[in-house]
Amino acid sequence: MNVEKDSLHQETHEITDLILAAKEKAYQETDDTPEPELTQSVGWPVECTVGPGLEGAIACETKIGYVNGGKGWLVYGGYNIFDLCAYSNYEEVSFLLLNGRMPNKSEFTEFKQKLMAARHIPNTLRLMMGFPVQDMNPMASLRIGTNMLRQRLTWRDMAKAKPSEELAVETDADAIDMDIPQSGQDHATYEFKRGHGQFNKPASARESQDDAEGMDACIHLISAMSVLTAAISRIRSDHIPIEWHPELSHAANLLYMMTGRIPTPVEERIMDVALILHADHGMNASTFASMVVASTLSDIYFSVGAGIAALNGPLHGGANEMVVKMLKEIGSPDNAKAWYAEKRANKEKIMGFGHRVYKAYDPRARILAPLAEYLARDNVQARKLYETAKSLEGEVIETLGKDKKIFPNVDYYSGIVYTCLGIPDDMFTPVFAVSRTAGWTARILEYIENNRIFRPRAIYTGGFVTDYTPLEQR
Ligand code: SDX
Repeated sequence: MNVEKDSLHQETHEITDLILAAKEKAYQETDDTPEPELTQSVGWPVECTVGPGLEGAIACETKIGYVNGGKGWLVYGGYNIFDLCAYSNYEEVSFLLLNGRMPNKSEFTEFKQKLMAARHIPNTLRLMMGFPVQDMNPMASLRIGTNMLRQRLTWRDMAKAKPSEELAVETDADAIDMDIPQSGQDHATYEFKRGHGQFNKPASARESQDDAEGMDACIHLISAMSVLTAAISRIRSDHIPIEWHPELSHAANLLYMMTGRIPTPVEERIMDVALILHADHGMNASTFASMVVASTLSDIYFSVGAGIAALNGPLHGGANEMVVKMLKEIGSPDNAKAWYAEKRANKEKIMGFGHRVYKAYDPRARILAPLAEYLARDNVQARKLYETAKSLEGEVIETLGKDKKIFPNVDYYSGIVYTCLGIPDDMFTPVFAVSRTAGWTARILEYIENNRIFRPRAIYTGGFVTDYTPLEQR
């Protein structure tokens, strides 16, 4: 089977039509006028009103992506998410996020070849499989796997490369050396481009790692995350990992390595659309977490590890799995009204709804809903999930939608799509990480170009004690 990237769209016009119909519906219900206060360059310091959880805070400027929360639109590198889903693919979108522009043919071919080469991580898989992956939280396994990708001591780990005192403002002077040098693939060694000139990096390290610039590590992580995730899924379902297929796309390989079956063109296309939809989303918790770690000039593998940790939470990336559990608990479309009434009475949050930024329908849900319906046509169990979801959505939009602008978010329909694609429930969040690694790494690269360590303040309300009472008197 010779699946060329361009053929991704040839046999799946009906998917493209569904996406363009969703785009048309969005334009009927809202407009994509950008919010001027969030799309015009400003001089620092910036005036902004900040609420709990840094709500409203502006962390940086970016050209990578824009979330129009008021109107419900999403843009990557200037392109509307509907157009990217209709006409592009995950590899091309990853290039766009990382480089700020679309690739030409030769650049795209080279980028895909680099992604393909970075899939070859036998040492890392062997090291990860030394842990009880079958029993662990899959996101914990993914963090181990990501750490194992960075196997060799980097020049930053070695004492002589530690920032010198006068240069290292706020550096944690007692950073712990890695006491047991690990071995591994050459390309697992990574250092920030920006750090090279600042500290006394030995010339020899520079030559050997010039090919390990930020971009190579990003490609390594984007590609390897899919291999690690698929391997974790196989092990958790009592199978052995499957080697990636040299002729399949990123999306098709993810499904193939997870299920052992080469996906149909429609399955591949919908997986690819889901990867595009989850690739980037502004300063969400996991992206911000990865950037905070990167801002200390820790390395990119540690930073992505922080992103995985944050994404695990049920208020963030963990919601997609909770949604399917919730829909199964409701059981049928007829039960949705009564179930919802009880949750509302208890002021419980409904998984898959609401968003810190979107106060309109999440454009990603606009695309995932019809794709879920399309896939569920031939799947009785998924059909019931979809119909239950639609029934519940109607109830929520009529109440919370009107009262508090709470609408379905990306996690509401993604689990139904993944169920139809044969992805186990407990792997939905790792699949989210597979896609989001593109956004995490792109924003890290962009931020450290003009790096400033993230260090917000807290209001202290703890009072002051002036006289210390010895223990024996307390
Ligand atoms: C993702 O940031 C991103 O971009 C994230 C993400 C990405 O791509 O990276 O889009 C991915 O994380 C999507 C969100 C997935 N999480 C869920 O579906 C979990 C359920 N959603 C909620 O927990 C909540 O909506 C959040 C966490 C997503 C947003 O929470 P906020 O902005 O902190 O809102 P809040 O908790 O302050 O709620 C404001 C009001 C409250 O009511 P009042 O106290 O004012 O009366 O809205 C209510 C909340 O009770 N509310 C909900 C609700 N979400 C908010 N009520 C019922 N169900 C909900 N889901």
